Amino acid sequence: MSSLRDKVALITGASSGLGAETVRLFSRKGATVFGIARDSDRLAEVFADVETGAYRSLDVGSASACRDAVERCVAQFGQLDALINIAGRHQMRRTEAVTDEDWAEDLAVNLNGPFYLCRAALPHLLARGGAIVNVGSVAGVEGQAYSAGYCAAKHGLIGLTRALAVEYTADRLRVNAVCPGGMLTPQLEQFTAPAGADFDLIMRTASPRGMMQPLDVAKVIAFLASDDAVAVHGAVYRVDNGKGAG
Ligand SMILES: NC(=O)c1ccc[n+]([C@@H]2O[C@H](COP(=O)([O-])OP(=O)(O)OC[C@H]3O[C@@H](n4cnc5c(N)ncnc54)[C@H](O)[C@@H]3O)[C@@H](O)[C@H]2O)c1
Repeated sequence: MSSLRDKVALITGASSGLGAETVRLFSRKGATVFGIARDSDRLAEVFADVETGAYRSLDVGSASACRDAVERCVAQFGQLDALINIAGRHQMRRTEAVTDEDWAEDLAVNLNGPFYLCRAALPHLLARGGAIVNVGSVAGVEGQAYSAGYCAAKHGLIGLTRALAVEYTADRLRVNAVCPGGMLTPQLEQFTAPAGADFDLIMRTASPRGMMQPLDVAKVIAFLASDDAVAVHGAVYRVDNGKGAG
């Protein structure tokens, strides 16, 4: 099992679903974890079980807040070995009903935030030979109905991953993406389809083997953050219970 002992990981989306599960798994594997999410009460609950770590409530759509969080993490723990971008939001809407604010928020959380954190973390990760894992979605590699902003942002996140992987080819840094299919998390439980939605279109996103648990995906993230993935760079891993098989 890939060890994360002596590594410091900054994990976003740490209060819920996949992010919370990843925090717990990284902690069990020996990592020190710095968690970021929006809601401090739920962060406090998750971090009650974390041996070594800290957390901060902030909006990843703010470049200055992202920079402060990276600097706070490095000041507190002395290093940064892994940046795990998990925070995301997905609300289904008919595209003709998407407001400017909806569009901006989809991009802010799902794409701008990961970029701000990558930019701030890069000097520290380059110094350590660290790893970035960006959590996209199957919606980052194929279209999904009623999800224009989310889909565009997640496709952008795959582009960001590949751009960094090429730019830092000569460095020890590794940059990869994980694209989950449906996981049983609060995000999924809160989905509401737009009025009159075509459920056949929505069900195109379903995996043939059913829903995954967030831990199934967290294990792949842990592998990619670990030294066991030494030769994995610029990869886009679908973790989708067979959805991509055709
Ligand atoms: N659940 C699924 O079926 C599924 C499928 C594919 C991809 N994903 C992706 O996996 C990731 C985790 O999803 P989840 O289902 O665990 O979601 P979730 O709703 O359970 O958790 C989302 C997390 O992101 C944080 N967050 C949201 N907006 C934020 C902001 N502006 N600033 C800081 N933090 C913010 C929340 O506080 C929370 O910790 C997301 O990127 C999501 O798009 C989820």
